[in-house]
Amino acid sequence: MALSIVILAAGQGTRMLSHRPKVLHELAGRPLLQHVYDAASALAPARVVVVYGHGGELVRQRCSQLKAHWVEQPQQLGSGHAVRQALPQIPEQDLVLVLCGDVPLITAATLERLIAAAGDSGFGLLTVTLDNPSGYGRILRDEHRKVIGIVEERDATPEQCMIKEINTGLMAVSAGWLREWLGRVGNDNAQGEYYLTDIVAVAVADGHSVSTVSPDSEAEVLGVNDRTQLAEIESHFRARQARSLMLQGLALIDPARFDCRGELTFGTDCVVDINVILEGAVRFGNGVRVGANTVIRDSELGDDVVILPNCIIEDSSIGRGSQLGPFARLRPETTLHEDVRIGNFVEIKKSDIAGGTKINHLSYVGDTQVGKNVNIGAGTIVCNYDGANKHRTVIGDGVFVGSDTQLVAPVLVGEGATIGAGTTVTKDVPPGVLAISRTTQTTIPSWKRPQKKKPHR
Ligand code: UD1
Ligand code: CA
Repeated sequence: MALSIVILAAGQGTRMLSHRPKVLHELAGRPLLQHVYDAASALAPARVVVVYGHGGELVRQRCSQLKAHWVEQPQQLGSGHAVRQALPQIPEQDLVLVLCGDVPLITAATLERLIAAAGDSGFGLLTVTLDNPSGYGRILRDEHRKVIGIVEERDATPEQCMIKEINTGLMAVSAGWLREWLGRVGNDNAQGEYYLTDIVAVAVADGHSVSTVSPDSEAEVLGVNDRTQLAEIESHFRARQARSLMLQGLALIDPARFDCRGELTFGTDCVVDINVILEGAVRFGNGVRVGANTVIRDSELGDDVVILPNCIIEDSSIGRGSQLGPFARLRPETTLHEDVRIGNFVEIKKSDIAGGTKINHLSYVGDTQVGKNVNIGAGTIVCNYDGANKHRTVIGDGVFVGSDTQLVAPVLVGEGATIGAGTTVTKDVPPGVLAISRTTQTTIPSWKRPQKKKPHR
């Protein structure tokens, strides 16, 4: 039986109090819908159908990279109505797995068990028992513990509200039955909606049985309805990522203050201090140490790299044994080779810095190729932008750049040259020379500083 997955994403998300459609709110920097889609696609389904509605065009645009059939539910008439919109895209003999765009922590492992349960009876339902079931639909069972229906909290009697087994909203049903049973669901309930959950009672009335399974952890089925729940889910995600990385050998000083929002691969004996955020694809070699308050996105750090606190590193590569920070910023397309030192208040953009070079204080280096064992003094600025175009600067091996130098690009500084402090380099400098542009220092003896004038009376 082929697998079709329907992701319900048409709900308005009124309680978010936002103009943004709910499924576009972000968990770990990616839309909720993306997380659900990733779990779905791990099952290699024949197709994924996303039912969108409120703010729909924005959802489609923002998530256009998803390989999905997009189906519009123009009016939000209920979750059952939403699934019905998807059915024309799905062959009669498929198994349909229904997921919710606002239940983002679901794992492929749990979904596999749900699908297996549906294989036994034709109808698998994911339920969980919660200490506080409020807000959720409750699972009704008969005296033999057989599922006989789901009642939404708004429609439940006080006794039914005492039930702690809840509907997660996720189920697996064969497409043929789904069509048949949805056709018999009405909207006579507190919200006047066509509830997907009502197909349970219809199926049971037809003599079908429903198999239930539970998720590996409760967090997997938490839904996002308001911003407190979104923050709670973010903290579950954070904990899950941190735990998995620690079990693979990463040392985290405090897992509650570490956010891996992308994919991290790493070697042995790497240590990450507090308030570090990793985004996109990040790679650490062996023995990497990352100091507090640092953000690293889509970058690679070689063996024994040390990042001191408060650095921002984006789309860059840092070679073995290099040290960065504190308070340094690497902007995209920067490569530091081996044993480079980048110190405080240094910004580097789209530059290649060869091994053993030091740029330790208060500098800007952009669109520059810097050779080996170069020393760039404090306050050096590469003037790479003339107001219209960017130009490249090349600095040869072993160059010494004195403090407070400006290099007005395009300019080439030859190997082993020395630039005197305070120089404005506007012409190429040949190898091995001293280049200096500085007005001669003079002294004016007995200089009197101006005095503040006394006000007239
Ligand atoms: C739903 C379930 C409830 C369950 C809970 C779990 C129903 C009737 N109730 O309640 O039993 O405990 O989820 O989180 O299904 N949707 C549409 N179009 C619509 C209405 C809803 O696409 O017209 C989508 C929503 O985007 C959401 C899902 O269906 O992904 C569930 O709808 P929602 O309004 O969030 O239902 P809940 O009250 O949370
Ligand atoms: Ca919900």
